[in-house]
Formats: sequence, C-alpha cells, structure tokens
Amino acid sequence: MDAYSTFCLNGTTHPFSDRDDPRESLLRWLKRHRLTGTKEGCGDGDCGACTVAEVLREGDSNRLRAVNSCLLPMGQVLGRSFVTVEALATKDEVHPVQRAMVRCAGSQCGYCTPGFVMSLFVGFHEDTLGDHCIDGNLCRCTGYTTIRQAMAEVAAVPTSERPRALPRFIDQDPGFTPRSAPTFLTPATVAEAIANKTAHPDYVWITGATDTGVALSRGQPVAPGFIALDRIDELQQVHRRESSWRIGAGVTLSQLEDQLGDDLPIITEVLPWFAARQVKNRATLGGNIGSASPIGDLLPCLLALDAVIELAGPNGRRPVAAADYFLDYRRTARHNDELVTAVTFDVSPGRQAFYKVAKRQTDDISIVAAAFLVDTDSTGVIRFVRLAYGGVAAIPKRARDTEAFLLGRTLDPGTVDEAVSKLASEFAPLSDHRASKEYRMALIGNLFRQFVEAA
Ligand SMILES: Cc1cc2nc3c(=O)[nH]c(=O)nc-3n(C[C@H](O)[C@H](O)[C@H](O)COP(=O)(O)OP(=O)(O)OC[C@H]3O[C@@H](n4cnc5c(N)ncnc54)[C@H](O)[C@@H]3O)c2cc1C
Ligand code: FES
Ligand code: FES
Repeated sequence: MDAYSTFCLNGTTHPFSDRDDPRESLLRWLKRHRLTGTKEGCGDGDCGACTVAEVLREGDSNRLRAVNSCLLPMGQVLGRSFVTVEALATKDEVHPVQRAMVRCAGSQCGYCTPGFVMSLFVGFHEDTLGDHCIDGNLCRCTGYTTIRQAMAEVAAVPTSERPRALPRFIDQDPGFTPRSAPTFLTPATVAEAIANKTAHPDYVWITGATDTGVALSRGQPVAPGFIALDRIDELQQVHRRESSWRIGAGVTLSQLEDQLGDDLPIITEVLPWFAARQVKNRATLGGNIGSASPIGDLLPCLLALDAVIELAGPNGRRPVAAADYFLDYRRTARHNDELVTAVTFDVSPGRQAFYKVAKRQTDDISIVAAAFLVDTDSTGVIRFVRLAYGGVAAIPKRARDTEAFLLGRTLDPGTVDEAVSKLASEFAPLSDHRASKEYRMALIGNLFRQFVEAA
C-alpha cells in the first residue's frame, strides 16, 4: 500500500501508509523501529522518560518543544518533525547537555536520562533552563541535585554559542505530503471539522491528546476515529481588547504562559501548577473544557470570570455561559456534534487569585482548586464576588449562596466566619484515594480565609 503521508524524524522523512495505525503512540512507533533510546516509564505522561522534541516552524525560524511521545498518537505526528535522543550527538562529540550530565554524574541506572537530556536540550536551545524545564521528568535513583548541577553548567553557556550544538537537520524543510489518515482526520478550519463530524458522527475530537492519549496509551479503544483540532489556526488565537478577552480553544497552556502576561492572575497563577512542561506544551483550554473533569484546573477560573464558552456545530455558533455549561459529572451543555471554539470574558475589576492543593507541588492533579474574584468599594464593601471551586462536587461549581451573602458586606472577621460556614453547606465533597471528604471540606473554607488574609 502506498504511503499517504509522511513525518520527519531526526532529519529523515518516514512514510505512513494504511498498514500503520494512526492511534499508535509515537513511543510505540519508535520502539517498533528499534529507536530504543526513548524510554517508557509510566505510559501516562507522568514520568518524562519518553520525552522527545518537536520542531515547530515559525516563519523562517524553528522552535523546539518537549512533548511526551507516549501520549502522542501517530495521527498527530504526521506532517510534523521530531528529534529523539539518538540525534543529539555527532560522530565526534556529544551534545553539551549530555556532556554536562556525564561530568556532573547526573545518571545512575540511566533509565530516566534520555528524557532529562531531551528536556534539557529543549531548555538549552529555547533558553528556558530552570526547574520548570525538567519538572515533567522523574528520577528514581540519582536524585535531582546532580541533574540540577548539570543544568546549571549548561545554563552558563552563552546563548550566542548554543546554536552550534543544534543538529543540522533541524533547519531543513522536510517537504511533507498530505497528512490526514482515514481514521484520524486533521481539518484546517472549523467548518471542515464540523463537516468531518457530520460525515463521521462516531469520531471524537482530539486536540493536545494529553487526556485522550492516556487512554490510547493503555490500549483502550476510545473511538473508531478522531478529528484532530490542533492544526486549526482560528482555535489558536488569543485576542485582547482592554479587559475583554477571547482565547481560542486550541491554545495550549504553554501559549497561555507566553501570551497572558501579568494581567490575568486568576489564570496565570494556575499555570506553574498545571501538569509539567511536556503536558503543558500540548494540553489545551478546549481539551480541559472537553474533559469536563470536576478537577479540571482552568474550569473554576472560567466560572469566576463569568466566561462564555463558544460552541460551533452544524447549526452555527452559540454562546453558553460557563455557569450553565457543566450539568453533571462529565456531562455538559455541548451537543455531540459541537466543538468548543473559544472562551470569551470581560474581566471585572477586583482582586483575583487561584489556589490549588495537591499531594505534590508540581505535576499533580488537584485535590481542591479554587478561583476567587472579589471587588470592593473604597470603604471595603463588596460589590462583586465570585467564589468557584473544583474537586468538591461532581462538577466545577460556584458557591452562589455565599456569594449572595457576601455582597454588600465587608470582610470583617465575623463575616468571614459566617461565609466559611455557608461555604461548607454548599458542597458535599467525596472521599477518594487522594483525600477524605473532611479534608476537602476544611480546604473549602481555609482557602477562602487564605485569600482574605492575603489582602
Ligand atoms: C501527566 C498529566 C498531568 C495533568 N495535569 C493536569 C492538571 O494539573 N490540571 C488539569 O486540569 N489537567 C491536567 N491533566 C489533564 C489534561 O492535560 C488537561 O485536561 C488538558 O487541558 C486536556 O487538553 P488536551 O488538548 O490535551 O485534550 P485532549 O486529550 O485532546 O481531549 C480531552 C477531551 O476533550 C475533548 N476535546 C478536545 N478539544 C475539544 C474541543 N475544542 N471541543 C470539544 N471537545 C474537545 C476530547 O474529545 C476529549 O474528550 C493532566 C494530564 C496528564 C497526562
Ligand atoms: S512514559 Fe512516562 S511520560 Fe511517557
Ligand atoms: S538515573 Fe535511575 S531513574 Fe534516574
């Protein structure tokens, strides 16, 4: 069977034909093709052993981003270019990050090492070295001190000298052929995506694949086919006019970090604690809404911002208030044939904050998350208040009774105490392996107290 598509790996163009499975992860493909440098630890996006670098063409230049190959279906690899650890060293010398890992003894059993090397490789060339550059990589035996020493050593290399260490093929244009696979469609516009869905109602949307990729990595069937939304330009735009924002559903967490600046703390405070770098580089706002998890970290923020979720389907576009969007556990107002295109909101004045409590500081999902927005007049009387929580109900939810109670009052100790007991009556959290319902209940009030005390 002839190849209908190609992708580029370490400077070599590879064909993709009907014999290949677009749901197979890039990691599995690498193993089948004996590229065994990239390791599998968890298969879930949690350990970073499988880290590879994607080459992104931006105009005339190239950027690198670290991604988890265990989560990336081959359907989303087609038409794109990747680098694995095999390509970093030349015949004559190893890459500076590899040299630093050796010199600093950053490796013992070595299983995690290719993943660390790839994250450091991206950090080195993108000038983003720092703890967040390797927070998606776990090491079970060396410990992080020597790995961080290796990072500090390469961070001292002047940025002007770094391009010399970039593999040459990264500047080549691989000249790709068409990229959609028959059961993995990659529309270029929203209209095309909707037409694809009308033709294949049982296919499901996929964007960053950081949720769906976990199921695929575990061999779960998920769906007969996919419609990938990660190449639709319109979905990747962030627009702002004064306090009005429109954020496309395909915008990744890393893009949010780059583009939001300091003006939207309720979202920017989420970003350091949302997954780790490799996941952030693929995970999208639309995927967080699409998953509709009660612990989706961006969802309380959307509630606190009174955001509007824009949906598009065969009957056109329609706005749905975030407050009306989440109906029951993972059930939403979105119809099966609709996709999320964007989120819009006008930011109310006032103090904003986001809190996330998890077992680990980074790369962990929330036990409880909370997003608060409170505006007071010059005398301290509350004139606008939004208190939104995740992890304490079947859906992300606002504390509407407490909000109504607080309107027109000042945040004196008596009012805060009463608000905290009202908050407790608004939620009935469950116990699970992450935390007991009692702990969650205590967090609901304590996070609000923390917000008040931080003022
Ligand atoms: C290791 C790891 C750590 C994580 N940590 C966090 C965390 O800290 N906080 C957190 O909130 N989440 C976390 N997640 C979950 C996940 O990364 C997020 O939910 C992310 O936003 C999903 O985006 P995506 O584009 O990858 O979604 P995908 O996996 O592509 O899709 C997820 C779901 O949304 C649907 N969908 C995707 N795009 C659209 C669209 N535009 N319109 C309608 N439906 C759509 C898909 O059909 C699917 O049901 C983590 C995941 C992993 C693997
Ligand atoms: S194998 Fe652990 S993140 Fe991919
Ligand atoms: S060197 Fe053994 S897990 Fe990191």
